[in-house]
Amino acid sequence: MTEDQDVFRPAEYAWGSEPEPGAQPTSVPASGAQRTSVPASGALGTSVPASGALGTSVPASGAAAAIAPVTARRPAAHAMPGPDIDALYQVVAGRRDVRNGFLPDPVAEDVLTRVLTAAHQAPSVGLSQPWDFIVLRDRGIRERVHALARHQQEVFAAGLPGARARAFSDLKVEAILDTPLNIVVTCDPTRGGRHVLGRHAQPQVASYSTACAVQNLWLAARAEGLGVGWVSFFDERELAAALGLPAHLEVVAYLCVGHVEAFPPAPELVLSGWARRRPLSWAVHEGQWGHRGLPGGPPASLLGDTVAAVRPLDAEAVAQARERQEALTKPSGSLGVLEQVSVQLAGLAGECPPPLPEPAVVAVFAGDHGVHAQGVTPWPQEVTAQMVVNFLASGAVVNAIAAQAGAEVCVVDVGVAADLPAAPGLLPRKIRPGTADMTAGPAMTRDEALRAVEVGIETARDLVAAGNSCLLTGDMGIANTTASAALIAVFTGAEPEEVTGRGTGIDDPTWQRKVAVVHHALERHRPDPADPLGVLASVGGLEHAALAGFILGGAALRVPVVLDGVIACAAALAARALAPDVVAALLAGHLSTEPGARRALDALGLRPLLDLGLRLGEGSGAALALPVVAAAARVLRDVATFDSAGVSGEKG
Ligand SMILES: Cc1cc2nc3c(=O)[nH]c(=O)nc-3n(C[C@H](O)[C@H](O)[C@H](O)COP(=O)(O)O)c2cc1C
Repeated sequence: MTEDQDVFRPAEYAWGSEPEPGAQPTSVPASGAQRTSVPASGALGTSVPASGALGTSVPASGAAAAIAPVTARRPAAHAMPGPDIDALYQVVAGRRDVRNGFLPDPVAEDVLTRVLTAAHQAPSVGLSQPWDFIVLRDRGIRERVHALARHQQEVFAAGLPGARARAFSDLKVEAILDTPLNIVVTCDPTRGGRHVLGRHAQPQVASYSTACAVQNLWLAARAEGLGVGWVSFFDERELAAALGLPAHLEVVAYLCVGHVEAFPPAPELVLSGWARRRPLSWAVHEGQWGHRGLPGGPPASLLGDTVAAVRPLDAEAVAQARERQEALTKPSGSLGVLEQVSVQLAGLAGECPPPLPEPAVVAVFAGDHGVHAQGVTPWPQEVTAQMVVNFLASGAVVNAIAAQAGAEVCVVDVGVAADLPAAPGLLPRKIRPGTADMTAGPAMTRDEALRAVEVGIETARDLVAAGNSCLLTGDMGIANTTASAALIAVFTGAEPEEVTGRGTGIDDPTWQRKVAVVHHALERHRPDPADPLGVLASVGGLEHAALAGFILGGAALRVPVVLDGVIACAAALAARALAPDVVAALLAGHLSTEPGARRALDALGLRPLLDLGLRLGEGSGAALALPVVAAAARVLRDVATFDSAGVSGEKG
């Protein structure tokens, strides 16, 4: 490993550029695995990809930073011979979930036996060996299983937002009938009686053990040149009943197994753009959760690394996009702001035309505010938690608009003053249950502000790794326009009365109280705009801090971030104070009627795409603007040029 791998580089996040960990050893003889009792058949090394199989832009340093070839390693006592080690890593890197390109050729019984032998050598809790393998060849049974899977696929597809649904319809997610045999891997959680060592405290370790057997099977199959596709589109009990399993058995895996034309060079979901791999450096924590860094590397700073990765637009792509706009079959400049958006998207992606900003996701960051106690809003604080439940039930305005725009909605609890039950779409990331009253002391500690920013960065990274190409900001927090006004006043130098709005629609006395509250907080803390974390800690909200991180995270990944209203604008000011080039990734979805929004957008140099008198928040305005952003990219991609269409240009 080199420290290079630990650095948060924009190139690392370009589409398809993540090096394939472990794919580097190239000089391994196919016969390297002979020392084990399961002989290799020479399939190793034939179709394992070299690094960077996903694309062209794998940095050489990143490739070298993965698993070093054995010649570069110092042999450890009891290590297996070098070629064996390399062969192992090669099998691990070359294993693929296969769903396409199966051949009808039968699987030889001796090969199947070797593969099952490998599975049966898996570790298991208390050596309970809870697995069994049911080899299915009968087409009639497989057709019944296939029908069950098809039904679940339809249920899944029906719940997908637009771009995801389109992408899903192009994906093959099972090969139940295309393979000569299927293997059902079951788990008996009762096997071995009461005193299975290690199982009493965690009964689920029986299933984990069975998953280890599946992985052994998968690796051995790869070495033997057999493709394996794991299908989980089942109601597990329904499948168990269809297979006539005894009631005490669980189905852990349903595997489609057969010879293949080729192994995909990378996960098919990566090749199709459905999802991306997370770099190892995101997943390794030294000593404590959140202390990320590769072994032996310098400790990573999530915020520092993210800020360092934020860059201006790519000048070459910008120039190409401008040139292309001039060549499209339309009068120059006739698409107004849309043309600028397309140029920005190209500059951000570093390619012209830019990718379409889909799939897109609205992340609604939710938090409560201690300043609520000052009577700045007539709405009770518990509305924050109630609205979170509403978002998760798809009942809020943002859900409707996002559905129309084809975007997903997820909710991040970064500081709601209530316990929220787990629910699909909810990311529980609470830093504290609401801020403190900023008129009585700092809203939060500096450390809490940093951790909230990190929640935002992590959210952006995980949503982009999940395949999203556009991030939309959303927020929920009763009293959060008060914190927004304070933040905007600090970062723009405006007077509180200039940037304090009526939020949900307050009367004059409440507005005057709100302005006085902002004045009081600013006088008390005298926040320094050159210290953005300090500003967020003293007068911000947890959702503002997280949104600032979300914006930075998106910008570092070169993904467009569409801002919603005044809360997002306030957070964007904080983000820009941390990394001035962040504006390259920002698009202002709309102009909120909150006075602070215009002031903030002017300071950010952003022009709102829509001006519809909205002041709801939630991410509604950002979602509404998404089709405009998508259209800008689509125009640059799809519209013919004067040359290609044979259309005469303007005379003179
Ligand atoms: C527990 C588990 C369940 C899976 N279920 C499905 C499935 O139902 N359909 C599918 O197409 N792929 C399924 N996969 C395959 C994953 O999509 C695949 O492993 C992942 O994209 C990584 O690709 P790779 O295995 O080629 O490295 C499953 C994988 C695992 C580990």
